[in-house]
Amino acid sequence: MIMRWCIVIILMGTFAVEACGPGRGVGRRKIGRKLTPLVFKQHVPNVPEVTLTASGVAEGRIGRNDSRFNDLVPNYNDDIIFKDEEGTGADRLMTQRCKEKLNTLAISVMNMWPGVKLLVTEGWDEEGYHTPESLHYEGRAVDITTSDRDRSKYGMLARLAVEAGFDWVYYESRSHIHCSVKLESSQGTKYGGCFPGDSTVVTSTGNTKKLSELRIGEKILSQDPSTNKLIFSEVLLFLDNDPNQKREFLNLTLSSNRTLVITPNHLVLKETAEGVRTVFAESIIVGDKLLVSVSNNSNLVSDSVISITAVLRTGVYAPLTEVGTVVINDVVVSCYATVDSQTVAHWAFLPLRLVWNFKQSLWKAWSVVSNPFSTRSTENLVPKQIGVHWYAKILYSMAHYVIPSHLND
Ligand SMILES: *[C@@H]1O[C@H](CO)[C@@H](O)[C@H](O)[C@H]1NC(C)=O
Ligand SMILES: *[C@@H]1O[C@H](CO)[C@@H](O)[C@H](O)[C@H]1NC(C)=O
Ligand SMILES: *[C@@H]1O[C@H](CO)[C@@H](O)[C@H](O)[C@H]1NC(C)=O
Ligand SMILES: *[C@@H]1O[C@H](CO)[C@@H](O)[C@H](O)[C@H]1NC(C)=O
Repeated sequence: MIMRWCIVIILMGTFAVEACGPGRGVGRRKIGRKLTPLVFKQHVPNVPEVTLTASGVAEGRIGRNDSRFNDLVPNYNDDIIFKDEEGTGADRLMTQRCKEKLNTLAISVMNMWPGVKLLVTEGWDEEGYHTPESLHYEGRAVDITTSDRDRSKYGMLARLAVEAGFDWVYYESRSHIHCSVKLESSQGTKYGGCFPGDSTVVTSTGNTKKLSELRIGEKILSQDPSTNKLIFSEVLLFLDNDPNQKREFLNLTLSSNRTLVITPNHLVLKETAEGVRTVFAESIIVGDKLLVSVSNNSNLVSDSVISITAVLRTGVYAPLTEVGTVVINDVVVSCYATVDSQTVAHWAFLPLRLVWNFKQSLWKAWSVVSNPFSTRSTENLVPKQIGVHWYAKILYSMAHYVIPSHLND
């Protein structure tokens, strides 16, 4: 027994396992690499700005009366010049992520060209000067130049912005570079997530139930990893449960018209020539095959992905079943996220399963003594916590120390 726990603790320390935190980072950028300037009209990455692999979907305008206005922070960095054409200080307001990237860039600019500073010509826009989907309205975009307004520097300035970690950098016009960042919530600063509340599961009574209505102790359709057959497995806890959190999800549509809405760093079961593999949802491409359950059969069938879009939804839920898998909207997925091994993740959660089993036996023993005729089950005994489960949080923070390059990259 002690041996097992040791293994678990080692596993916990070695691998980044968490409920549904940030996606895997792209790793630390290499130092000493030759920097190539961007050319006019080039953007990095080479996809449109509001797509998932760049800055993600636009959430809509933020006004001063908006509750989201409180998420914007002012940037008073002396190494950055703010043009503030509007005279309202609006250009200084930005999301925390945008501020961090901008401050990093300010240092690179001074190192690259001594005596020159970073100049922000446009930041948060509250007056509607931009196109409807613009991230300027959300404090997630800045237009920048160098303080000397030397246009020959702009291509390199854009490259430095890419290196500073902006999620999308565009040599937009001869007179400025446009940079933008992802939503704060897509970056795991408020980690948690997995499935929106209207996703459905099938309970052991044969009913379909929304995730937001699911309770701990209920048995739901899952896949037994040892036999690959469908079984009903007990919900031990919710790795995440937050009706008010807004997240960015992938919407995978299958050829049977089933849809799976899932956060990008969650594990799904993909059918490959070598058998079934667990992979990150974000690595799924059109044509990949997922496993789905059909109503009257305990075997799974494969179904191919025909479209993938990004959607914003409010409410995040992540049930953990005893077997570590769950069938959501008929599609078989893992209960885990972030580490791309179902086995490792399942091991790391072993202590929780042991505690659950122990609690259950205690409850059963007690109920037999107190009321031998009671048929009450352990269902609904334990309330759902709001937010990320403490155990997942501990794993998360451990991961933070062991492999920091996976986070906040
Ligand atoms: C913001 O609220 C104030 C008072 O509550 C109101 O006078 C003003 O018109 C509002 N502004 C916008 C842009 O809604
Ligand atoms: C997902 O995409 C499908 C097909 O494109 C669409 O019918 C469905 O409404 C989308 N779901 C969400 C949650 O946006
Ligand atoms: C999926 O939906 C589309 C449009 O709603 C429909 O044309 C198609 O026949 C449906 N396919 C299946 C397999 O139900
Ligand atoms: C399962 O259901 C499908 C359609 O719902 C039907 O065509 C098929 O015959 C059923 N199979 C069994 C074994 O009942």
